[in-house]
Amino acid sequence: MTDEIGVDSYTSPPETLLDVPFVPTDENVVEAMLNLGAVGPNDVLYDLGSGDGRILISAARNRDTTGIGVDLDPERIADAMEEAGWAGVQFLVDFIEDDIFTVDISAATVVTLYLLEMVNLELRPRLLSELRPGTRIISHAFGMGDWKPDDWREMSGVNIYKWIVPAQIAGIWEWERLDGRLYRIDLQQDFQEITGTAWLDGEKAILESADLQGARLEVTLRENSTAAQDSFTLHFKNNELHSVKTATPPKA
Ligand SMILES: C[S@@+](CC[C@H](N)C(=O)[O-])C[C@H]1O[C@@H](n2cnc3c(N)ncnc32)[C@H](O)[C@@H]1O
Repeated sequence: MTDEIGVDSYTSPPETLLDVPFVPTDENVVEAMLNLGAVGPNDVLYDLGSGDGRILISAARNRDTTGIGVDLDPERIADAMEEAGWAGVQFLVDFIEDDIFTVDISAATVVTLYLLEMVNLELRPRLLSELRPGTRIISHAFGMGDWKPDDWREMSGVNIYKWIVPAQIAGIWEWERLDGRLYRIDLQQDFQEITGTAWLDGEKAILESADLQGARLEVTLRENSTAAQDSFTLHFKNNELHSVKTATPPKA
């Protein structure tokens, strides 16, 4: 005898499998997240797991920011569109029913997250490889494992974290100083942390500091411990060295 409510007679669609349940961010935390990300009118903001759309709607209403909200739950998408209409910002924001693990995020200049550390970690390879260097990522409450934040704030008892997507710059790079002498650096990279070795005209030099922010690397070098400091700003494009600016010209 078969059960009348067995698997074969089950007709309702399966519930959407969410990686994180809907829990909205408090409005004062939303404001702190947007401030930490320095979100402005020229940004394209992506909220991955956008819930009722409050982060995007607040950015659109108060900062003229355009944005895309992504949520797997159709009810959340419908709510967010309705809220955007009430706020009069429907022409600045859009909400799409999609999965944060497959949706195209490459147009973002800022990404906001209120997920879970485990979900952030799963998303991390995409954030690092698909977002342009310099894109800011702001996360409510949850970290990114061993990718340390560039900045953070505490608001109403919760931490908010900020990361700047680093260009991939590990490798050997060379450029000429203004006097024609050749600098060469061999860089290792651990997210935004840069270490390395330097040479000037083939002789070992000192790499005193290397600070990477997005696609811009500020380096300070010295020919030897008694020589004057040389500072340069290196710009990377498509993970190649694109231009070098001298910050302090070498003394004659
Ligand atoms: C904690 S809520 C955050 C809502 C909003 N970002 C905020 O801060 O107020 C997480 C949201 O992620 C959505 N979500 C969970 N897993 C998802 C997935 N794989 N793809 C897209 N959205 C997802 C849930 O439906 C929920 O609305």
